Amino acid sequence: MKIVVAENSGFCYGVSRTMEMAERAAAEVSGKCFTLGHIIHNKDVVRALEKRGVAPAERVEDISPGSTVIIRSHGVGRETYEKLEARGCAVIDATCPNVSRIHKLAVQASEEGRTVLIIGTPGHPEIEGIRGWCARSQVVRNAEELESLLSQTPEIRSEPLSAVFQTTSTEKNYQSCVKIIKKECTNVKIFDTMCVATSRRQEEARKLSTECSCMLVVGDKSSANTRRLAEICEERCPRVCFIENAAGLENLSFDEHDTIGIIAGASTPAWTIKEVNKKMCEEFKNQELNVENQAEQEEVISAGAAEPESVVEETNQAAEGGESFAELLEKSIKTLRTGDKVTGTVAAITATEISVDLGTKHSGYIPVDELTNEPGAKVEDLVHVGDQIEAYVMRVNDVEGTAELSKKRLDMVKTWADIETFCEEKTTVEGVITDENKGGVVASVKGVRVFIPASQTGLPRGAETSALLKKTVKLRITEVNRARHRVVGSIRAVQFEERRARAEQIWNEIEVGKKYNGVVKSLTSYGAFVDIGGIDGMIHVSELSWTRISNPAEVLSVGQEVEVYVISFDKEKKKISLGYRREEDNPWTRFLNTYEVGSVAKVKIVKLMDFGAFAEVLPGVDGLIHISQIADHRIGKPAEVLTVGEEVDAKIVNIDTEKRKISLSIRALLEPQAEPAAEEPAEVEAPAEPEAPVEAE
Ligand code: F3S
Repeated sequence: MKIVVAENSGFCYGVSRTMEMAERAAAEVSGKCFTLGHIIHNKDVVRALEKRGVAPAERVEDISPGSTVIIRSHGVGRETYEKLEARGCAVIDATCPNVSRIHKLAVQASEEGRTVLIIGTPGHPEIEGIRGWCARSQVVRNAEELESLLSQTPEIRSEPLSAVFQTTSTEKNYQSCVKIIKKECTNVKIFDTMCVATSRRQEEARKLSTECSCMLVVGDKSSANTRRLAEICEERCPRVCFIENAAGLENLSFDEHDTIGIIAGASTPAWTIKEVNKKMCEEFKNQELNVENQAEQEEVISAGAAEPESVVEETNQAAEGGESFAELLEKSIKTLRTGDKVTGTVAAITATEISVDLGTKHSGYIPVDELTNEPGAKVEDLVHVGDQIEAYVMRVNDVEGTAELSKKRLDMVKTWADIETFCEEKTTVEGVITDENKGGVVASVKGVRVFIPASQTGLPRGAETSALLKKTVKLRITEVNRARHRVVGSIRAVQFEERRARAEQIWNEIEVGKKYNGVVKSLTSYGAFVDIGGIDGMIHVSELSWTRISNPAEVLSVGQEVEVYVISFDKEKKKISLGYRREEDNPWTRFLNTYEVGSVAKVKIVKLMDFGAFAEVLPGVDGLIHISQIADHRIGKPAEVLTVGEEVDAKIVNIDTEKRKISLSIRALLEPQAEPAAEEPAEVEAPAEPEAPVEAE
């Protein structure tokens, strides 16, 4: 026989927080102290507190002016706060953060002119508190009541609505209501305001009740969430005993059951659960039942030990990797300290903070600006309700039962460890340049400021570092001093590595004629140096243009992107000669593609000599008009007929492709029938041959 205690039993974090605040008040408040309504749905707890001077008051009017008043986790409406203030009461607000979130949503909806549709139990204190923050509200219990509301008041369908759910609503109820709302209502915002702690507990009740032949549901019958647990168990388990405390076990027999599950509501104190366990152990002992050691079960209590107290101590052993019941109890009273690293579950997300269920008496919260250092990150992208989250405890407020947490700082510790590893392992990382100063620039790497000296920015000497601002760069961490929060990096180191790798690749693949895209790095009188992505090659001045140029700057400028091709290379000397001018731009080729012997061209006289005139046929291609071919009569000098710059029609009478010389004749056009004098030498000038390339360094 075994007893399995649900892990999610007893106080939820909201109730733990409330109880902690109430206990503080009992110990510290000197004047009268009240709780507005029963602090939790548990008469034993209420009685115990009353004995310590914290009495329940049903109405504000029952509270003496000037008293201290504790608002329980259910929360209250705005009017109650106003009334308490009017009576001069000091308020200790123990409203569960999950409920406070609904209040804020209600206020926001009202400001937007929306009716708040509340799905929950009418008259329940939580629901009444929510209504107290709404300008207009409607409350329905479930899908059935929702349908009936919509059919009785059809105008609601088109009204602006904000739908919220009681924190203890079931998933089933939520889904069926959402389905109707989405189908019927045209202007609605739906908020899932159910409590994660409740869903988890209900889920465990579902699971446990299918595995056990008897379930003990422990808690006050006035507690809505405990009643729901009983309902869930009754749907699955043949026998469910709803007891308030150990006394409820009187006259119950469990002879015929081999596995008994225990689950308790959110307002059931740990001591009540412990008592129930103890009593069950005694019961088993008296009946001399053999209880197996259920070490593999999550929460198992064997009943065969000598003393009940020690039975609980000894037999509440954890399942493999799990926690014992005793540990869970211990955890519920655990005190947090600043600097502790904690893990919790995201319970709610508001515009200003993330509520975290730490499973302790403290309610954890992470202010939004303590969530991350990532610039522009959105909270909804980073965390979701139900997520496990690790954080540092920044501040503990035992009076209010809160623990301020920071995920950002925990991340930062991890990040520093990463940064040190990056430095040791020479890892290339990415960062965004966020700032510039006299000495260089600052990059943000995973939220850590990394200083990059100007000489390590990879920019040319004297260049403006502002050009890097807001850019994502690759860099290497070169120095880390955690104590001084100083990190130094180098973009240049990465560029150097990248260049070396690219250079190696180029040398492996290089061949004559291969084309590369490069950037002009510098110009000299004899050529241009071009970075082809890791190596510099040189274009000799004669390879820059088909026309004669006196300086490379006539064709290129520093920084210009160019396409070049390999003319020759020497792997040993690491030299590459590059070409820039293209064959398709070669004027002689263009001439041959355009003209043939017999073609007539409009030519421009460029030079007059005694023996004839040179004329430009195309830029870069000149031909000679011999003196005998200038006119249809004998002339003493070409200048008698022609002037430099003059454009005339001339016939191409001969092309010497080998010597690249062209003979032209004006006379042939004047006397078409006349044959050009073949014996007269035709002198032409072809484009200059390129000089041998100068090799790159
Ligand atoms: Fe508890 Fe708050 Fe949820 S009181 S059940 S944690 S809404």
